[in-house]
Amino acid sequence: MARISASVYTSHVPAIGAAMDLGKTGEPYWQPLFAGYEFSRQWLREQRPDVIFLVYNDHASAFSLEMIPTFAIGTGERFQPADEGWGPRPVPQVIGHPELASHIAQSVIQQDFDLTIVNRMDVDHGLTVPLSLMCGQVPAWPCPVIPFAVNVVQYPVPSGRRCLALGQAIRRAVESFDADLNVQIWGTGGMSHQLQGPRAGLINREWDTRFLDRLIDDPVGLAQVPHIEYVREAGSEGIELVMWLIARGAMGDLAGGPAPRVAHRFYHVPASNTAVGHLILENPRT
Ligand code: DHB
Ligand code: FE
Repeated sequence: MARISASVYTSHVPAIGAAMDLGKTGEPYWQPLFAGYEFSRQWLREQRPDVIFLVYNDHASAFSLEMIPTFAIGTGERFQPADEGWGPRPVPQVIGHPELASHIAQSVIQQDFDLTIVNRMDVDHGLTVPLSLMCGQVPAWPCPVIPFAVNVVQYPVPSGRRCLALGQAIRRAVESFDADLNVQIWGTGGMSHQLQGPRAGLINREWDTRFLDRLIDDPVGLAQVPHIEYVREAGSEGIELVMWLIARGAMGDLAGGPAPRVAHRFYHVPASNTAVGHLILENPRT
């Protein structure tokens, strides 16, 4: 059977992608940020996942105010990098996994989460920057990726509680897929940042640190945190962090298994307007 071996959490700042694409990673501003992902790149090479289930948000690239799915699963065979105004990023196309994605859609919808099924969409920095951070500059991504887009752009957005429960449903879906696959789930976006209005530039290290602590040790309690606290404490775009709860919900301890192992933890300010957080949790093999 397929299994979820680990979860990865990371910010997705577009300027990080630009720094890589333009060969600026060694500059003093960027070097400490990329140093925090050296472990992760080696770890990912060693883990050799068969599929990455990548939870992210679209920033009005594939969707717009004309059409706003709350949860959308990419069931297509491939997904191209989106043109966000400067041309598509020079990164590999994303190869999907239609069989597993369709199975997850079937299972999760039967578990009462109404997903939007997407056979064709372009993927923006929300998805490509986490892949770039974790993989570096590569001719092809290391494995198929199932894009899972969450609306955190236009209110009403899903609650933390709903996101955690969705992660639990995704875990059950993966574990009922009849193939021996090593699946990782990634939660992306965040941490504290606000891109607009009088509080633009807001960073809250203390709140971010506590979020990371609770994501590890108290995910059920963390899932109760209301949207207003994210927005007040982590800024208007800090709400992207609810997506991390989807990945966390898919870890084994929330299905009665042992607590996950913290393989890596990193926090860095600044990257553009964002506090960058990064965590890797492994499910102990039972
Ligand atoms: C920035 C961060 C984001 O999450 C995003 O979607 C766009 C920009 C930033 O910090 O510049
Ligand atoms: Fe964003």
